[in-house]
Amino acid sequence: MPHIVIISSSVRNSRASHRVALYLKRFLEHGHLSTVDLVDLLAYDFPVFHERLKYLTDTPPNAIAFADKIKAADGVIMVTPEYNGGYPASLKNVIDFLYDEWHRKPIAIATVSDGAFGGSQVITSLQFTLWKIKAWVVPAMFPVPRVTDSFDEQGNALKKEEADKRASNFVKELLWCIEAKRKMETK
Ligand SMILES: Cc1cc2nc3c(=O)[nH]c(=O)nc-3n(C[C@H](O)[C@H](O)[C@H](O)COP(=O)(O)O)c2cc1C
Repeated sequence: MPHIVIISSSVRNSRASHRVALYLKRFLEHGHLSTVDLVDLLAYDFPVFHERLKYLTDTPPNAIAFADKIKAADGVIMVTPEYNGGYPASLKNVIDFLYDEWHRKPIAIATVSDGAFGGSQVITSLQFTLWKIKAWVVPAMFPVPRVTDSFDEQGNALKKEEADKRASNFVKELLWCIEAKRKMETK
């Protein structure tokens, strides 16, 4: 069974996008689609980027553990809110922090907003950054508009059937890329 890391990237007070991370974790686990590690950037509370991990002598607590989790993941789902048309600094902070760990890593992007467009304007900037760092960005979307009307605080979808159908299509693409990579590496 593949292993997926879900990065919940909002560290904002009263954040809502974490609900989507909780939902996707449960969706994957209940469907026996993968094992899941939910990596919550609020819990890590990394300092603002000073240098990449491999060049640091004074390593922030938990940084090695974070890098190891990304390394161990067969695939990653980044759950990101939209802030002023972009993704949050907390997410850029950890992308820049690592390098080799992202190489050829299948990454699917789930975007979140409280408006009508589901944070989809984040896609172009985040996709470009991930491409620059040589990750493998999965061509699938999971936009969540009006997040607090769609998911409760525990990550339950208020319209479960609809959410599950969209999640299934989203996750299918990530799992395909994970499987394709596995086949290439076992040749
Ligand atoms: C600083 C800031 C900027 C925002 N900019 C946008 C935006 O450009 N487009 C949008 O649809 N929503 C925007 N929002 C609303 C967020 O999408 C909404 O608050 C969402 O819940 C954010 O995720 P979070 O609660 O996990 O932090 C913004 C919110 C904040 C705090």
